[in-house]
Amino acid sequence: MTKLIKNGTVVTADLTYKADVLMDNGKIIEIGPDLKGDETLDATGCYVMPGGIDPHVHLEMPFMGTYSSDDFESGTRAGLAGGTTMVVDFCLPNQGESLLDALKRWDNKSTRANCDYSFHMAVTWWGEQVFNDMQTVVQERGINTFKHFLAYKGALMVNDDELYSSFMRLAELGATPMVHAENGDVIAELSAKLLAEGNTGPEAHAYSRPSQVEGEATNRAIMIADMAGAPLYVVHVSCEEAHEAIRRARMQGKRVWGEPLIQHLTLDESEYFNADWDHAARRVMSPPFRNQKHQDSLWAGLQSGSLSVVATDHCAFTTEQKRTGVGDFTKIPNGTGGLEDRMPMLWTHGVATGRLTMNEFVAVTSTNIAKVLNCYPRKGAVLVGADADLVVWDPEKSKTIAASSQQSAIDYNVFEGHEVKGLPRFTLTRGQVAVHDGEIRTQEGHGEFVAREPNATVNTALSKWKELTAPQPVKRTGIPATGV
Ligand code: URP
Ligand code: ZN
Ligand code: ZN
Ligand code: ZN
Repeated sequence: MTKLIKNGTVVTADLTYKADVLMDNGKIIEIGPDLKGDETLDATGCYVMPGGIDPHVHLEMPFMGTYSSDDFESGTRAGLAGGTTMVVDFCLPNQGESLLDALKRWDNKSTRANCDYSFHMAVTWWGEQVFNDMQTVVQERGINTFKHFLAYKGALMVNDDELYSSFMRLAELGATPMVHAENGDVIAELSAKLLAEGNTGPEAHAYSRPSQVEGEATNRAIMIADMAGAPLYVVHVSCEEAHEAIRRARMQGKRVWGEPLIQHLTLDESEYFNADWDHAARRVMSPPFRNQKHQDSLWAGLQSGSLSVVATDHCAFTTEQKRTGVGDFTKIPNGTGGLEDRMPMLWTHGVATGRLTMNEFVAVTSTNIAKVLNCYPRKGAVLVGADADLVVWDPEKSKTIAASSQQSAIDYNVFEGHEVKGLPRFTLTRGQVAVHDGEIRTQEGHGEFVAREPNATVNTALSKWKELTAPQPVKRTGIPATGV
């Protein structure tokens, strides 16, 4: 049975035009005027866009002695409610655990997903087993992106020698490293000092992670990736110093992408100075929220193209979980939610203010990351043959964000009280209408794993260039005899 989206305006990363969109068996089969279908969805006054892709989520993630509270069911339901049709979660092996064993745990958790999903692999330790497993993960498991934490010393953090070895291996396999860029050694020192001086509240989390720790680590990771001949994706870019390093690298021709979060774009550090402990602790995440100077830099990066993707780092903890850190800010589980709010908040604060065009909105919420992940145009496109992951976006529909009406399992929302204008009328995941005019019709287990091939065009081009410019021995005619 075919489904038809009628009377809408198709908006992609590079085009805006009036057309109907016909789909069958989860795929787009025709785009054009005056189409007919078995079931019709009216898109009058709406934009028909590729569904959002959130490349940075942590669903049911074991972290800081607990698990994040949204799982693959509630997390993907929240995403669909806000127009997101694909998420990418991070598989985190324990110390000494094989990457393939860790993947089994992630396979089990993800069976309940309501929309399509993929995984990044995290490199949480280094050794021969990780080196060997990487090949299987890339070539047999469809994972071509690997995250490295330069923060969380004593837990997830890897050192520079491990980082370089891992980046070298990934370059060889045609995969792309990602980095959480904050200097974990300096953060550990600053945190101990702050605690010793009686700075125990959530605001000290921000004091312990100044923008310099992020700028330093971002630049270091970029240089190490360049030496290893690998491209680099920098997650949750929150400040000018990190953006500056990325901007500079891109100007030099390095293949580096930066990912700001909707939280950093729209919420600032004043949240941590709120007199209510719970209010401040609920907003504790790494990197922390920054001041307006940094926010302006992030917006400028999206406008100029030096930053490429807007994500959420959705990692939701309840107020009760956050309270583990009463009396010691280093024990507050790090993470905030945002899956349901990313697209409406970015539209409201970006497109409706004139900071972003509609096409740029599509690029940074969907198309750019589909290309980086190497799943374009199956995802991130409105094209014949693409998956029918679509959002019918109503620019006039509005609401006030409230925890009481959200899909997420937690008891608050960091955007509580924000007015958004621009919301999905319909969200379709491979042709299944998961959101129908405000009504949630998700199907648990509908989501499928999206396998992604290595050797995307950028990886191939970069490895060719690195091979051509690799150090070569000089061919000499007269070599002096030794030992004379
Ligand atoms: O605070 C954060 N960002 N929590 C999630 C884990 C991570 O670092 O991405
Ligand atoms: Zn991170
Ligand atoms: Zn994260
Ligand atoms: Zn707002």
